[in-house]
Amino acid sequence: MTARRPVVVGLSGASGAAIGVRVVELLAGAGIAVHLVVSTAAERTLRHEVGPDALPRIAGLAAVVHPVADIGATIASGSFRTGGMIVAPCSIRTLSAIASSAADNLLVRAADVHLKERRRLVLMVRETPLHLGHIRAMAQACEIGAVIAPPVPAFYRRPRTVEDIVEHTARRAIDLLDLQVDGLAGPEWAGDGDRP
Ligand SMILES: Cc1cc2nc3c(=O)[nH]c(=O)nc-3n(C[C@H](O)[C@H](O)[C@H](O)COP(=O)(O)O)c2cc1C
Repeated sequence: MTARRPVVVGLSGASGAAIGVRVVELLAGAGIAVHLVVSTAAERTLRHEVGPDALPRIAGLAAVVHPVADIGATIASGSFRTGGMIVAPCSIRTLSAIASSAADNLLVRAADVHLKERRRLVLMVRETPLHLGHIRAMAQACEIGAVIAPPVPAFYRRPRTVEDIVEHTARRAIDLLDLQVDGLAGPEWAGDGDRP
């Protein structure tokens, strides 16, 4: 059996830091080595939205925590094999940098490497409302191979709490990596049984 490949998780400074936290918890809980890279703005949103212990907690769960300025890290090279990368959440700034291959920090460089190596890159882009520049950046990222997966609640699942929404959104993003780990994706939709 081949060893399971590590997954890169990038947190950028959009709202929704709790989703990034949950993505790290779920992957690490499934025994997957998480390579974590957190932007300076995300350090701030983590503190503001989740709490002062959020960053140390996910850093403790990650196999490796890479400083965002370390553009010489393992994950900056295509020779370092991974099972994919999730940017959760993905700010418009980071989206724009990825879309234009402006790899001036490790998070964007690692994302660019995933695209050039034709590996799965999931961008949980979060902003609202969107102007045409945002939409064009999403289109550009999509055209070069990224999966655009905004953290939009699945109301058909009838979430009762914010935690329900975070849980489902994080699991759906992980599912897009197709890691073939039992129980990670969450339950499949079985239909509503309401036949017309
Ligand atoms: C509390 C807070 C919430 C923010 N929410 C968003 C957001 O939802 N989407 C976004 O694109 N930027 C958001 N920003 C702005 C980004 O953090 C800012 O553009 C930053 O430069 C992004 O840098 P990064 O892409 O390197 O993380 C937010 C900033 C703060 C402080």
